[in-house]
Amino acid sequence: MQIHNLSETPSILNTFMAELRDKNVQKDSMRFRRNIERIGEIMGYELSKSLEFEKHSIETPLGNSDTVLHKKDIVLCSILRAGVPLHNGLLNYFDAAENAFISAYRQHKHNPESFEIVVEYLACPSLEGKTLILADPMLATGQSMVSTFEALKPFGTPKEIHLASVIGAQPGIDYVSKAFDSDVHLWIATIDNELNDKGYIVPGLGDAGDLAFGNKLQQ
Ligand code: URA
Repeated sequence: MQIHNLSETPSILNTFMAELRDKNVQKDSMRFRRNIERIGEIMGYELSKSLEFEKHSIETPLGNSDTVLHKKDIVLCSILRAGVPLHNGLLNYFDAAENAFISAYRQHKHNPESFEIVVEYLACPSLEGKTLILADPMLATGQSMVSTFEALKPFGTPKEIHLASVIGAQPGIDYVSKAFDSDVHLWIATIDNELNDKGYIVPGLGDAGDLAFGNKLQQ
């Protein structure tokens, strides 16, 4: 897997990341959602440099302008519900993309420290020969990303695969690296070292779904 860690070069992205993490600023859920969306926009721009481009000629009022435009073959897939703001940010730039949504959640069956990923709702166009961008803002254990990809397999074989995350934990990145081929790209805004015993990223930012959309009752 090819890892592109966007915070290796300091940029405005650090400001958005600091606001996402800050326990006082992150209480503003509209700012929280918008900061994830802004990171999705930056990620979309960076990711776009690796896409397939083809020649086009654009007719202006005064003549023709030759350029290259990326192939419009993107399917953007996100995991509900925390993935929605990152999805929106990517979609702001890849506005011609087709979209797929999948629900994956952690089911704590026996004790709060162990869980399995349950995939339920799935709406997806054909992926055959297309560019799949799979977005999951918090790459914690990596199990949601891998379970989602398994669930997408009946929809066809993508030409190329890009994984997009805001924060990844190193153990989750190691897990995902083993599950995906070496030509798959991981675009990540930053990487933290640890997971706690509940599978949360440390220092991370907390529960991205709750911060974006409010608390939920535990299942
Ligand atoms: N999901 C979250 O929202 N936060 C984490 O730290 C891990 C998974």
